Amino acid sequence: MLAERVKTLKPAATIELSTKIREMKKSGVDIISLNIGEPDFAPPAAANDGVRAALDQNISKYGPVPGFPELREAICEKLRNDNGLTYRPDEICVSAGAKQAIFNALFALCGAGDEVLLPTPCWVSYDQMVNLCGATPVPVRLRLENGFALDVDAVERCITPRTRAIVINTPNNPTGAVYSEESLRALGRLAVKYDFWIISDEIYEKILFNGNTHFSVASVSEDVWSHCVTTNGFSKAYALPGWRVGYSAAPRTLAKAISSIQGHVTSATASLSQMGALYAMRGAAESVKLMAEEYAARMVLTGDLLDKIPDILFNRPQGTFYYFLDVSAYLGRRFDGQIIETSDALSRFILEQAHVAVVPGEAFSLPMHLRLSFSNSRENIIEGLSRMAQAFAALK
Ligand SMILES: Cc1ncc(COP(=O)(O)O)c(C=O)c1O
Repeated sequence: MLAERVKTLKPAATIELSTKIREMKKSGVDIISLNIGEPDFAPPAAANDGVRAALDQNISKYGPVPGFPELREAICEKLRNDNGLTYRPDEICVSAGAKQAIFNALFALCGAGDEVLLPTPCWVSYDQMVNLCGATPVPVRLRLENGFALDVDAVERCITPRTRAIVINTPNNPTGAVYSEESLRALGRLAVKYDFWIISDEIYEKILFNGNTHFSVASVSEDVWSHCVTTNGFSKAYALPGWRVGYSAAPRTLAKAISSIQGHVTSATASLSQMGALYAMRGAAESVKLMAEEYAARMVLTGDLLDKIPDILFNRPQGTFYYFLDVSAYLGRRFDGQIIETSDALSRFILEQAHVAVVPGEAFSLPMHLRLSFSNSRENIIEGLSRMAQAFAALK
């Protein structure tokens, strides 16, 4: 009854989990949500001002498919100033979130017979998007003992004549790794040598800790630039996930294809959201900085509490708001006679016993791990980790 392409489609585990948690909360259970993939902050005032201005000006018609010219110009200026990237407004397509920007790029580039490399663990949607395009996802396994750094030799080993693209994400969800400039330069060289595209998802670029800096792979050289799509958005840095504004920046022919796809699927992103994003770009730099500082403090708090739970392996994140925990030592242990065999089962155990929500590694294509988000108040982090410590201690 359904098309072939959706038969293997898995619903986003993170969204499924959120639905379950919402139901538990509704029935009165006091859940601490450390599964969250979105900022817990209110929108910056400047963003709200932008929406108000749009309402006052009755901006309600269909806008240009790739976004308002003023917003695209502001994005070009940002890419120039923050990332050392030169794009023209007709190389930008504003989308309904970075998610749509990434999908548009994959859909424009990849089809049956193509392979797309995915450094793994990776964000929940990449492999499903690649499948939807009819292409084949190829995981490139990264390792905790190397800090989940981008392993360019491992990438090269996975390249075949069918390799069409790689999707990278730095700072990385779920690992918190920030890819080094050196590794990104080496990846850029590979993309030119073997002629494949790099889709660079830079959505967490503003959430960095301990002096780590973000490097955009498209800035390596003109040759590399012409093999790159840079994607970013307003959901994380500006705490505007529900406003659905993201964008791609790509060489003109590809940008035009991206915009044509979007033109037939969704048209322009909501005008009010675009105006909010534009004002946020102009006036929310201080809020962005303050939020990043608060994440940094929570990162330390969370790490100090995790250090007290035995047998969990992890690196402190260099960016994002996630810890990625190797919990393999706990698998095979029992509670109430029942063996916990997978990280999926462990996350359900923690939810049901400790009323703390975390995401199992299976969602990121790497079982035996849990992703814990510290996008929550310090109070909730302390309470959540105390409950988790008790739950882990109950496993024998
Ligand atoms: C790595 C990564 N890329 C992209 C997105 C999607 O962002 P948006 O809300 O802009 O669609 C997310 C959201 O969780 C993410 O974690």
